[in-house]
Amino acid sequence: MSDPVTRFEQGLARVTDAFGPAFAEAHDEQDLRAANARFAGPQGELTALMKTMREVPGDRRRELGKSANAVKQAVAEAFELGLTRLAQAARDAELSAPALDPTLPGRGVRPGRLHAITRVRHELVDIFASLGFDVAEGPEVDLYDYNFDKLGFPPDHPATDMQDTFFVTREEDGEPATSLLRAHTSTVQVREMLRREPPFAIISPGAVYRRDDDATHSPMFFQIEGLLVDQDVSFSELMGVLTLFVKRLLGDDVPVRFRPSYFPFVEPGGEVDVGCTLCRPWADGGAERSAACGVCKGTGWLEVLGCGMVHPVVFENVGYDPEKVTGFAFGMGIDRIAMLRYGVPNIKLLYENDIRFLSGF
Ligand code: DAH
Repeated sequence: MSDPVTRFEQGLARVTDAFGPAFAEAHDEQDLRAANARFAGPQGELTALMKTMREVPGDRRRELGKSANAVKQAVAEAFELGLTRLAQAARDAELSAPALDPTLPGRGVRPGRLHAITRVRHELVDIFASLGFDVAEGPEVDLYDYNFDKLGFPPDHPATDMQDTFFVTREEDGEPATSLLRAHTSTVQVREMLRREPPFAIISPGAVYRRDDDATHSPMFFQIEGLLVDQDVSFSELMGVLTLFVKRLLGDDVPVRFRPSYFPFVEPGGEVDVGCTLCRPWADGGAERSAACGVCKGTGWLEVLGCGMVHPVVFENVGYDPEKVTGFAFGMGIDRIAMLRYGVPNIKLLYENDIRFLSGF
């Protein structure tokens, strides 16, 4: 390799030729700073060259040092110019871009809202609260005893089939499972009777669980149950309360009918149907609409709740004297009422949390 002076001169010439085109090629500030670093940075070519100055013989040092400083100065100026050029280009691009339209409406924050089931639950609670019922709540994991035995389900009753229950504990050593996800909120009726003395009236809204899964059944859904215990309570009072409830919920014109039915914890037991709120068979032209109605399947009626006079065995099981106290109870699915109220064809829609569906109510 040649002597230090030649090496220094060649190096300087290379930098002199290279920095101009390198800076011109830079398309943004990052490129430009990288190019600058290639020459003038701590590891840059020019910086490295300056460090070889020591090897240059003394008589040439002054002259070559001057040239090197001039190149360093030129690189620094070109870098500054490059920054100005890029800033100008960015400004020009901004000015020639489509104009910002300050009249466009902003993207507002959409307020949240209560879920359809929550709203219906509030509505149901409000109606019963206005009739003097207290709200009572209980745990979702509860005792087998409260879910079945205390309510008068005999052992081996097909209810564990009928209500196909989720158990939390297992059968062990021939001992039955003791805890489960409650299959109805009737467990709260038991809990309240165990801790209160009559007279009282409660409603118990809450989540319940069953192994059911189709268009109208979800493994978790919501119920609201009612229980009134006093002396000399009659079936006509049950009918009066539930008829008033339906009229407040759906309107005074909606017909109500009571049908006998069976639940182990009531006697007599019944179910309440309401006139179909979609085809409204009692209103003008109802008969034709009803024939084609998919919601009531042409019957003109929708089943909404179960009810009855509390069975004496239930009172005995909680330590009340069935000779002295009487009462009525009822229960319904909140989801089902929400589906009727809003015309929701599939219960799953209520649980998928699709905002396009939920914001429609
Ligand atoms: N527990 C019943 C069910 O889950 C509903 C029910 C019917 C509740 C009659 C009651 C009642 O309190 O009296 O299907």
